[in-house]
Amino acid sequence: MSSKILLNACVRTMCREAIGINSVELVPEPGAHFPEFSPGSHIDLHLPNGLVRNYSLCNSYHEKDRYVLGILQDSRSRGGSKYIHEALRCGAFLRISEPRNNFALDEAAASTVLVAGGIGITPILSMFRRLRELGAPVRLIYCTRSRGQAAFLDEIEKLGGDVQLHFDDENDGKPVELRSAFASTLSGVHAYCCGPEAMLNAFEVACGQTGIEHVHVERFAANAALHAATGGGFNVELARSGRTLEVSEGKSILHALLDAGVDVDHSCEEGVCGACETRVLSGCPDHRDSVLNVEQRSGNKVMMVCVSGVKSGKLVLDL
Ligand code: FES
Repeated sequence: MSSKILLNACVRTMCREAIGINSVELVPEPGAHFPEFSPGSHIDLHLPNGLVRNYSLCNSYHEKDRYVLGILQDSRSRGGSKYIHEALRCGAFLRISEPRNNFALDEAAASTVLVAGGIGITPILSMFRRLRELGAPVRLIYCTRSRGQAAFLDEIEKLGGDVQLHFDDENDGKPVELRSAFASTLSGVHAYCCGPEAMLNAFEVACGQTGIEHVHVERFAANAALHAATGGGFNVELARSGRTLEVSEGKSILHALLDAGVDVDHSCEEGVCGACETRVLSGCPDHRDSVLNVEQRSGNKVMMVCVSGVKSGKLVLDL
C-alpha cells in the first residue's frame, strides 16, 4: 500500500453510465478540498475489502470539491471492480491517494489525437474537455464494442468538436482502422491512447506507419510481454544510507526494500500506476513497467522498483 498521504473521501453518487460501467463521485470531508489534478491523472482507492485499485479521474480538473471515476465491472475482476459494482454504496467512506499523473497532456501541442477504447475513455475525457476549453485542435476517436457500452456520450456530445465514434457491432464486428484515421493528422501531432492491450498495440503500429512521433499510452493492466518476470539475484545500493541490499531470486526490488524497512510508496505492484517510481543514480535498469515512455526508459534516470530489475552495472538508487 501507499506510504504517502491518504485522504478521506465519501461516495456521494454512483450512476450507471453504460453497460457494465458505473461512475463514482467522491467528495472530501466537510470543509476540506481535494488536491488539484491535471487531465490524465488517477488515484488509488483503498477499498474496505483491503484491496487497492487505481482509477482515472474523468471530471474537470477545475473541481476541487469532487473526484469522478468511471469503473468497468471487469469479468476477470480480482475483487476491485466487483466490490465497487456489487458492494460499494452511496455514503460509504473510503481512503484515497493524492492524484498521480503518468499520462500528462501536452497542452502546447500543435494538434492532438485522443484515442479511447472502452473504459479507456476516463482519462481521455478529462483531456478532451481541457483541450476543448483551450480551443486547441483536437480529434477524439472513441471505440467500444457497441453503443450501449459507450459511457459519457451525452457529455462528449455537449463538448462538441471533432469526434469519431466507432462501435464494432455497427461495423461488421471490425475494430477502428487507426492507420486511415491518422492519415490526415498534421505534423507535430501528439497522439494519446488508453484502452485494452490489443488497441494499444494497434495504436502504436498505426503511429509508426503514419510517422506520428509524439506517442503517449496509458495501460490499465500490466504489459504481459514486459512483466514476464521480476528477476532478482542481484544487489542494489542505497545512496542515502550507504546500505547494500540483496534482492534474492524471484523477489522484486520493492519487496527487498520493504523487508529492509525502507519506506517506498507503492500501490499496483504491476508496473502500471507509477507509485513506486524511484530515482536511479547509476546502473542500467531492466525496465519491465508499463508507465515509462521510450525516452524515459533509455534515459535510465528513474525506474519502477515493483517490477523492474537490473540489466547491467551496479544499480544505485536515490534512497
Ligand atoms: S507499485 Fe505501481 S508501478 Fe510500482
